[in-house]
Amino acid sequence: MVLSAARQLSKQAVAFGPFQHATRGRGTAIRAALVLSIAAAAYYRPHFLFGKDEEGDAVGAFIAGLPEYSATEVGAHDSPEQRVWVTYRRGVYDITDFIAKHPGGGEKISLAAGGSIEPFWKFYQQHGKHSTRAMLESMRIGNLKQSDTIAEEHLHDPYRREPERSTVLKVHTQKPFNGETPVTVLGERYITPNEVFYIRNHLPVPDIEINDYELEVSGLGVEKPLTLSLQQLQDQFPKHCIVNTFSCAGNRRMDMEAYKHVKGLEWGAGAIGTATWCGAKLVDVLQAAAFDLNKGAR
Ligand code: HEM
Repeated sequence: MVLSAARQLSKQAVAFGPFQHATRGRGTAIRAALVLSIAAAAYYRPHFLFGKDEEGDAVGAFIAGLPEYSATEVGAHDSPEQRVWVTYRRGVYDITDFIAKHPGGGEKISLAAGGSIEPFWKFYQQHGKHSTRAMLESMRIGNLKQSDTIAEEHLHDPYRREPERSTVLKVHTQKPFNGETPVTVLGERYITPNEVFYIRNHLPVPDIEINDYELEVSGLGVEKPLTLSLQQLQDQFPKHCIVNTFSCAGNRRMDMEAYKHVKGLEWGAGAIGTATWCGAKLVDVLQAAAFDLNKGAR
């Protein structure tokens, strides 16, 4: 079922590639590319840890005595054959041996090969943890020339347009936003109020201009590719509503910890909620696109 737009926008945990998300007012079609990021759960122990304040720690600071490289020299190391180097602030790192161990996948981390990881880490702020930053520092090989560093004001914050959220939610992380419904609130009514429904995000909320929104239906088995505006989705297909309970797969992970260490956000029992979900049925949209299951099936 295609969720009603308002609910979908306020709740979506859809992951867009760093430069694929839409910018307001551009007038271009928005392609809703769903990228399911499954972080491999390889456990990696950092060689050493740094101070408490993540912004104030030593990661990426100049280290006297290390060789100095220019951005051009770093840029030449953009493949395993040349060894893969990246930069963070004044730091130069050789990440070649870490690529296969990266919990977010080798393909993603390789996007930064030969350049700075700062724009990517602004986007994927899961990397703010000390353990992760220390992991990076353990791969340090040199200093980046001062004149080649990226000024903070040139790194725009992809989270600057996040919606306001209820302060009732029990927050686990702010960027990306992850918060659960307090259990006492959950028990008050059958339908969980929208503003206190749990939110599970991996990335910023996509910045969608509703008038520019387009859903593209194409691919294997689709005989009549379609491009639909939100208005067309709402006007051309019957609206169906169902009451359904959604639960995050990590709900009650905190309790699981009592038995065994489980990697991931430590949710309590509130990453669950019941709502009335309304919208066009996916089957109706696929029928309009003359989808042939036999041609589409692999
Ligand atoms: C040497 C540099 C890097 C290190 C040490 C590193 C480390 C990590 C770690 C420890 C995680 C797991 C985070 C968690 O679950 O709490 C992670 C996840 C991830 N990383 Fe990296 N990373 C690096 C570079 C990058 C780059 C450059 C990108 C993107 C271009 C990237 C994209 C991701 C993504 C998409 C995830 C999964 C996030 C999620 O599903 O919630 N990483 N990385």
